Amino acid sequence: MILANIMSNRFYITTPIYYVNAEPHLGHAYSTVVADVQNRYHKLLGEETFFLTGTDEHGDKIVQAAQARGLDPKSYVDQVSGMFRESWPLLEVEPDRFIRTTEPNHIKTVQRVLQKVYDNGDIEFREYEGLYCFGCERFYIERELVDGKCPDHNTEPVKLKEKNYFFLMSRYQDWLIDHIKAHPEFITPGRYRNEVLSFLKEPLEDLCISRPTSRLTWGVPLPFDDGFVTYVWFDALVNYLSGLGYPDDDKFRRFWPVAEHVIAKDILKPHGIYWPTILKALGLPPYRRLHVHGYWQMKDRKMSKSLGNVVSPRDLVKNFGADATRYCLMREMVFGLDAGFSHKAFVTRINADLANDLGNLFSRTLTMVKKYTNGQVPEPIDPGPEEKRLIEGVESLVPLWKGYMSAFETHKALQEIWKVINVANKMIDTTAPWELAKAGEERVGQLNSVLYCLLEAQRIFSVLISPVMPDTARKMREALGLDVQHMPDIDDTRWGLLRPGVRTERIASLFPRIDLKGTRMKETAVRAEGKGTHRKGDKVEGKQEEGIISFEEFQKVDLRIGQVIAAEPVPNADRLLKLIVACPEERQIVAGIAEYFTPEQVIGKQVVVVANLKPVKLRGVKSEGMLLAAKDAQGLHLITAETAAEPGSKVS
Ligand code: ME8
Repeated sequence: MILANIMSNRFYITTPIYYVNAEPHLGHAYSTVVADVQNRYHKLLGEETFFLTGTDEHGDKIVQAAQARGLDPKSYVDQVSGMFRESWPLLEVEPDRFIRTTEPNHIKTVQRVLQKVYDNGDIEFREYEGLYCFGCERFYIERELVDGKCPDHNTEPVKLKEKNYFFLMSRYQDWLIDHIKAHPEFITPGRYRNEVLSFLKEPLEDLCISRPTSRLTWGVPLPFDDGFVTYVWFDALVNYLSGLGYPDDDKFRRFWPVAEHVIAKDILKPHGIYWPTILKALGLPPYRRLHVHGYWQMKDRKMSKSLGNVVSPRDLVKNFGADATRYCLMREMVFGLDAGFSHKAFVTRINADLANDLGNLFSRTLTMVKKYTNGQVPEPIDPGPEEKRLIEGVESLVPLWKGYMSAFETHKALQEIWKVINVANKMIDTTAPWELAKAGEERVGQLNSVLYCLLEAQRIFSVLISPVMPDTARKMREALGLDVQHMPDIDDTRWGLLRPGVRTERIASLFPRIDLKGTRMKETAVRAEGKGTHRKGDKVEGKQEEGIISFEEFQKVDLRIGQVIAAEPVPNADRLLKLIVACPEERQIVAGIAEYFTPEQVIGKQVVVVANLKPVKLRGVKSEGMLLAAKDAQGLHLITAETAAEPGSKVS
């Protein structure tokens, strides 16, 4: 068959099809979100895309799992396949096709493929004696074993002698080596390419592709011998073709030349060796790229259904929301390496990157736009040096981001975006729009320029984060007054597209802070403070008269790092600001700092809070806690952490 020219404006992405012998966990979610992010990214580039995932439903493992639950295999696979299918929308994963290997169409395709390879003379019937692992459903050769045991199941394989059909894989060994060497991107990252090449240094054995029906009936019958069913891996790999309607469907013609597979390293051999040789035997070009990632681990052990140390995608979404879960999955794992899962790391990441850096930037900006330009995108004038720095940051970010996304290095793409988000956050502090506003007409041009740049940078951030956090991107675009029906594309990353005069809307915070126990924090109305500094009446027990206290006495003062997440004036009280401070639970503090700071100046700041002060009411407003500050001739200086600290951290 002659395939159409490779069209670079198309993209076909697949995940492994998962065994239905257990429910989906974070490991499956990771591969599937990677594929979804790539699918959305290539759509954004304007390409025609196709995204395939599904379930692998034949073989011994499935029969055993069904038996353990007292179910017949069909009812069992229907049930568990349904769990996988239902998990993906929760994570905003939108495949074009969810394939099941028990579908009649897939079965027909597997038989067609087998017949073709058989007719070409690449399948042979032989007697074979070997070491068989029932867990893996395959024969092992000595050198693949670790201390004589299956490396995955840590069990000794059983000696088995039977007649079976063999795919003559060894015929294609030299071709495969040449292909991998000629296409450095065929298997990425490079360490997995090297692993496959080093495996190929030894002579390749032929692949046993049948199981006698005396031992297994839950499989695809061989079209040329009904005494056998197909080896589950041969059946499963063909899904990448049957999912496109091979051989007759136009989708196959359009998308096969641009096929890219995502897998973890556990299934490198079937994908890096069996699959390209099967394709070669079929007369098809191999897939374009194979992307191999590492394992999510729990306490240094691979997260896996057999160990039972798993986290369910449903729980992740319940605790963190879909976008934040996707962000953490993409940000916390370096593609290709193992990563340890910890609830705490996810919470810290969400609070620092999403609630603080991005969320605060967005709400601060919209609050200022509402206040200073009546909610409208202002007309920009020539940008000053601070704005220029941001514009340059954004403009150089776009090609960097594109390079990393195309290379599946999403963690780096996100790191780069966050660097520029922080440039924007700093710009607010250095340009101090509230001062520009105070200065009146004279500085209005500069104020408009600062606000325009902040809005425009965030419009572009919304495009760049959209493959990873589609819902947040949508919310941001809506708040920025953009047409949410328009799917952002790569042209939208050009600077200067935001039109002056467009009305923006303030929205509830993009990401609520999350407490370490994984539950959302309830807002607690708390107490206030007179002067921002320590009040005279608030005696800490001890010998204050003498100016000396013991360490134990000092320790009674519960000092915590807090993050100011909202601030507003207290009506009829010129000196007071009402703050909401996360430390990490949200508390209300009334501080006597309004003469020195505007609300915008303190939102986002880290402060030191006296957290165990008795609540009081100031001008009728409840306040719990106080901020530490130092006063000198220049004014009031809020005490803060030298580098960003986790809100709630004890100060001692
Ligand atoms: O192997 N970390 O299915 P499977 C990261 N049916 N990814 C993980 C993971 C972990 N701890 N655990 C699982 C099969 N995965 C075959 C595939 S394809 C034609 C047939 C992900 O249910 C990862 O993608 O055992 C891994 O390759 C896959 O789940 C294995 O899924």
